[in-house]
Amino acid sequence: MTHPRRRATTLLGRRAVAATVPVAVAALLTAAGPATAAGPTGASGVGDPYFPLAGNGGYHVAHYDLTLRYDPATRHLDGEAVLTARATQRLTRFDLDFHGLKITALTVGHAKADYRRDGQELVVTPERALRKGEEFRVTVAYNGTPAPVTDPDGSLDGWIPTDDGAFVAGEPQGAMTWFPADNHPLDKSSYDFTITVPADRTAVANGVLLGQRTAKGRTTFRWRQSEPMAAYLATATVGKFQVKQYTTRDGLKVYDAVDPREATAAAPVLKQLPSVLEWESRLFGPYPFRAAGSIVDRAPNVGYALETQTRPVYDRAPDLSTLVHESAHQWFGDSVSLTSWKDIWLNEGFATYAEWLYAEQHGGDSAQQTFDSLYATPADDGLWEFPPGDPGSGANIFGTPVYARGAMTLHVLRTTVGDRAFFRVLRAWAAAHRYGNGTTAQFERLAERESGQDLGALFQTWLYGRGKPGGPSGS
Ligand code: ARG
Ligand code: ZN
Repeated sequence: MTHPRRRATTLLGRRAVAATVPVAVAALLTAAGPATAAGPTGASGVGDPYFPLAGNGGYHVAHYDLTLRYDPATRHLDGEAVLTARATQRLTRFDLDFHGLKITALTVGHAKADYRRDGQELVVTPERALRKGEEFRVTVAYNGTPAPVTDPDGSLDGWIPTDDGAFVAGEPQGAMTWFPADNHPLDKSSYDFTITVPADRTAVANGVLLGQRTAKGRTTFRWRQSEPMAAYLATATVGKFQVKQYTTRDGLKVYDAVDPREATAAAPVLKQLPSVLEWESRLFGPYPFRAAGSIVDRAPNVGYALETQTRPVYDRAPDLSTLVHESAHQWFGDSVSLTSWKDIWLNEGFATYAEWLYAEQHGGDSAQQTFDSLYATPADDGLWEFPPGDPGSGANIFGTPVYARGAMTLHVLRTTVGDRAFFRVLRAWAAAHRYGNGTTAQFERLAERESGQDLGALFQTWLYGRGKPGGPSGS
């Protein structure tokens, strides 16, 4: 079967070890209301039903300035994070998300602030209350041995050590394992990274490389991600890498970093990146970022690739279909972010459908053939275990129904409204929510508007219906 291969097979295998979301966290969310006796405090989460403590209330982060120093031999990380934020309400106290590591200093503005830690919540009490609308700066100095978090499906994400550095990928939760963050895709920010590693290693983050300097056996890399980015899409992957930099015909700055052990397998695939991005730009509209590239690591304990913004990170040399998938996420997932993790099909269904379209237009199976072979799977198959628009819990967000039935939903939409309207819908979606967020309900309305059709029954059946949808298969 041609659907989510590496991503889903690994994930299906992991179902058995899936952990459960602690029930107690839900209670915390309600406990942290907008106002208490002590005055207005920022909520401990943005209200995401699957990850109640993800993100925070009461402010938005405009910019993260992260300075990191990592020693792969000892696995020690030294960090300083400077967050430039704006209060959306009066705040006597607010939370950041930060997991593990030790804090050595914390200031808000120029004044030392009180803080306490409660699981992943870093609760900060500034010396004086912040006014609604006030811009403020939080500086956190920290260090220690970063470790990944285990997700509800049993997978690891965050700062994941490798034999020569670290594979750094944060979907959905792991950003908080290496920097204090407002860790939910609702809050998107620009980033600067200054990363120092031993001189025989390379540190690769998002966006454009501003410069690098070697002194006293260490190299410092400066990266800038100017377009808004969700925290989970940030990376600072470290390793022994072969680096290749070039500019495409369209003026896009490409930076590839490849583990030499993966170089032979990766080369023919990475070479296709400019043509894949051009092809996707024709289908989805202009590529949203000024930088691109690939990070090909060797990280055998990871089991997935991630669409880290501008520069996806692969746990091994990718095949072309995976490159197409992670590239499509730059539009669907990265530029247009989800609003709630239950809407994950807006990322994975779209990126998977891009793989089908790529095959169709490059001499492979047609999308209809891919759809048909999936539709032929028996009703008791895992593919029909839950509907993609309502995965039910954080343990299911990377399950096969999200990827494959999510893509099937788009295919049924396409065959219902026709190619012209369908591709107009994809481009309108990418344009309307560029650098922002979207919901499934907004997508449904946009599809109806662009096609002029009532699509209620289609979405009800394919996104929300329990079990295998019966009747006409959309052909
Ligand atoms: N979004 C990634 C993809 O391209 C999958 C990330 C999986 N993350 C995880 N923690 N299991 O499909
Ligand atoms: Zn994906």
